[in-house]
Amino acid sequence: MRFGRFDDDAREYVITTPRTPLPWINYLGTDEFFGLISQTGGGYCFYRDARLRRLTRYRYNNVPLDVGGRYYYIRDGEDLWSPGWAPTKRDLDRYECRHGLSYTVITGERNGVRAEVLYFVPLGTNAEVHRVRLRNLSDKPRSLRLFSFVEFCLWNAWDDQTNYQRNLSTGEVEVVGSAIYHTTEYRERRNHFAVYAVNAPLAGFDTDRESFMGLWNGWDEPQAVAEGRSRNSIASGWAPVGSHQIAVDLAPGEERTLVFVLGYVENPVEEKWEKPGVVNKARARELLARFSTTKQVDAAVAELREYWAGLLSTYSVATGDPRIDRMVNIWNPYGCMVTFNMSRSASYFETGIGRGMGFRDSNQDLLGFVHLVPARARERILDIAATQFPDGSAYHQYQPLTKRGNHDIGSGFNDDPLWLIEGVAAYVKETGDLGILKEAVPFDNDPENTGTLFEHLRRSFQHVLENLGPHGLPLIGRADWNDCLNLNCFSEQPDESFQTTENRAGGTAESVFIAGLFVHVAPDYADLAELTGFPEEARATREHAATMARTVLEHGWDGEWFLRAYDHFGKKVGSKECEEGQIFIEPQGYCVMAGIGVAEGHARQALDAVKTRLDTPHGIVLHQPAYRRYRVELGEISSYPPGYKENAGIFCHNNPWIMIAETVIGRGDRAFDYWKKLAPAFREEISEVHRLEPFAYAQMIAGRDAPRHGEAKNSWLTGATAWNYVAISQHIIGVRPEFGGLRVHPCLPAEVRRLTLIRKCRGAEYRIKVRTRGTGSAPRLVVDGKPIQGTLVPWAPAGAVVTVEVACGEPDSPDKGE
Ligand code: GLC
Ligand code: GLC
Repeated sequence: MRFGRFDDDAREYVITTPRTPLPWINYLGTDEFFGLISQTGGGYCFYRDARLRRLTRYRYNNVPLDVGGRYYYIRDGEDLWSPGWAPTKRDLDRYECRHGLSYTVITGERNGVRAEVLYFVPLGTNAEVHRVRLRNLSDKPRSLRLFSFVEFCLWNAWDDQTNYQRNLSTGEVEVVGSAIYHTTEYRERRNHFAVYAVNAPLAGFDTDRESFMGLWNGWDEPQAVAEGRSRNSIASGWAPVGSHQIAVDLAPGEERTLVFVLGYVENPVEEKWEKPGVVNKARARELLARFSTTKQVDAAVAELREYWAGLLSTYSVATGDPRIDRMVNIWNPYGCMVTFNMSRSASYFETGIGRGMGFRDSNQDLLGFVHLVPARARERILDIAATQFPDGSAYHQYQPLTKRGNHDIGSGFNDDPLWLIEGVAAYVKETGDLGILKEAVPFDNDPENTGTLFEHLRRSFQHVLENLGPHGLPLIGRADWNDCLNLNCFSEQPDESFQTTENRAGGTAESVFIAGLFVHVAPDYADLAELTGFPEEARATREHAATMARTVLEHGWDGEWFLRAYDHFGKKVGSKECEEGQIFIEPQGYCVMAGIGVAEGHARQALDAVKTRLDTPHGIVLHQPAYRRYRVELGEISSYPPGYKENAGIFCHNNPWIMIAETVIGRGDRAFDYWKKLAPAFREEISEVHRLEPFAYAQMIAGRDAPRHGEAKNSWLTGATAWNYVAISQHIIGVRPEFGGLRVHPCLPAEVRRLTLIRKCRGAEYRIKVRTRGTGSAPRLVVDGKPIQGTLVPWAPAGAVVTVEVACGEPDSPDKGE
């Protein structure tokens, strides 16, 4: 069952009922100022850091789920309604929400009045702009009252929810003309304030929540709106809000447009005050002047559209299947931008006050983002690397605002360092910018202790070699990619952290997954060493990788698949000898991606075992059998009910590793089949089961052991976004940059026989045509009219247009089905 439809020409998803199975959200903002917005206008906005600079308040785990946002109320005589249905929940004659690329348009109609609200963050602007259009569709003159409403957050979202003894006394505002200023704490240490303004004279306003709402009313029926009378209240402590009231008289057929701006303004400390006690509003006035007319706003919207069109033109494919094309060309890269910006901070499942940027997460997010804005990827890499310790280990997380490592979590996740190599390699392949390797980057943000970025990679690689266990496999530390496989924490107390309470830390528990990751990144690291002038190191690296691959085959192969780990006691995890958790997805993916066991036939065996033991109609579960009871020696993984999260849920993040692994052994049909099970556009038809947005990946889909098998949780901010993009675009469609050129090596399913694709890279444009007659032989390439050996198209100079024709399948077989 669907709740809307894709509009591919507009690059929008059109939601046709406000009653989606769960809130379906979108993101506003591309750079520093962001908003989350649901299909009814719920959500909030912040500047850079969702915890420390939150402009508007949002209550998580609310009842009902999604209450609070930037709402507009229309009072039409005695009638009261909202264009997005919520919060008044008055039935609409017509409703539509269009989630587009960094903007959302919500339209409601009731009794012959149409209200359309466009929400967006203009490029280079620290503000949301709301363009409100009211149209009289009837043949009678209408006299309407429009009320706006936002509730301000007292900046620090954590403190805002916990510290009421202070916070109920700090709220301050100012109202000047049609602008409401939220200035709480500006008097002392803060040099920022919020402004909420409209480009029209006011019939009234409110800034005190209780005055506006009334003590006993909810968002659905604020007292001031119900009575059609603003209180002109000035908040003093309690809960500062922003509400404008505007009289809108419309002749039959007439339309009126209003522009609201909700912005963040920061003043240099020496320019905080206009005069003692008066906030300097010059920058706010400049901001409002930029969006005071409809024409300015329309131009900013056009600019935003062009920006996205430009970004998306980097990779665009036409396969004949709109579901593939809309994922690859629009929604998946869009999601990659969102994850790059948000990491795991702010979604409807992440509160914006918990996790900062993850070391491993952000490096992986880069993989799907680097081609969109390489310069920002570069900056991110240098920030991440600066949180690495001198011994090569890394802070597991850091705060986006301060860019400092997070001490509460610390380090000891032994896969972390390797992801830096993965991220840097992707950046250099995309850009050819070897200069980044020579950048001086501090260790642990200590300016006294710096090394080149290449030195950071060297220490990442060494860190694994210096931390090998009894079988010669990498020690796992607190956890590897699977945060919940905690082999060094035997936790019996409910208040402990599974990850950081390391009471069995020692030199025994080993990870086959890290071994696979190590072998996978080694060739890239070796190439980078060579390109940077360390050929000896490149050679040594390749030897280390070969040794590790042999070790995996010797101690990490279980007979039919790769083992997952050795626990603290040296017992196998992920083996047929185990009672539960006999086979895990992660090592099958990464070991095969690394090429381990391909020649021996083990790769095929391992992937066949995944197919028979882990595959379901909704994707591949993490392991089987699920853990039915808590196992103290394995940790958090066995704490979840079977089928959820790491306990045999479908982790959409690691499924693509299997897809890529399938392409390594040339099985495009299987790879594609796995992708279709997860790709949101392919799950649109079962939205009532899936429940989350049909245009954004989810972190997890409940596994087959769960009563709610197929139900997704945790949309948007997940490694699934980048990895699924990498799998479909770079490995199944098969176009990816490498150090020496553009690899064009499709591994397509039978159902995609032809495609055309444009890839822009390093200033040149590659126009690629693929024809396939099925699998069975290596693709044959003709570049600018000349056949080439292999599948690597050499880099062309900037400005060049290169044509690439690719034929796949048996050359002499009859051209079936054309
Ligand atoms: C979450 C974490 C990620 C981890 C994964 C599996 O998505 O953000 O770092 O790898 O869970 O545990
Ligand atoms: C897993 C979860 C993640 C959580 C982490 C630590 O990675 O997916 O959400 O933060 O474990 O418990």
